[in-house]
Amino acid sequence: MPQTSISAQDREMLIAAARKALDRAYARYSNFRVGAAILTDQGEVFTGVNVENASYGLTNCAERSAIFTAVQQGKGARLSIRAVAVVTGDDVPCSPCGACRQVIFEFGDDAVVIFKGQQEYLEMSIKDLLPHSFRLS
Ligand code: THU
Repeated sequence: MPQTSISAQDREMLIAAARKALDRAYARYSNFRVGAAILTDQGEVFTGVNVENASYGLTNCAERSAIFTAVQQGKGARLSIRAVAVVTGDDVPCSPCGACRQVIFEFGDDAVVIFKGQQEYLEMSIKDLLPHSFRLS
């Protein structure tokens, strides 16, 4: 049965991991630092940060950095994401952008996404964040 929520302990652990990654953000153009951490079905954690570029459109978001890291560190097509946490440098609200939602869905169609809302951290399923997601079939 798909897991639609994670334990409070996993949630705190994942937010802490994303926060720890923040220092590595390369955000010299926007100064908007973002850290992300993903929890796999096997209990592994991978982190990522946003990596900007002088050609702004080449910027890679923190969420995709974390996912691409997991894939290239050997998870490959076996990567199955249970949860993703997103944090920002100034703890301002930030939910994953549309591109990241599609990439999260690719590797975790039941993933729980944790992000800062207007007040507290929110938890939403990727299906709710990205209805009618794209799948090649
Ligand atoms: N950014 C992320 O890393 N993740 C998001 O979900 C939203 C935006 C980054 C991209 C860019 O480096 C900066 O935030 C400002 O858009």
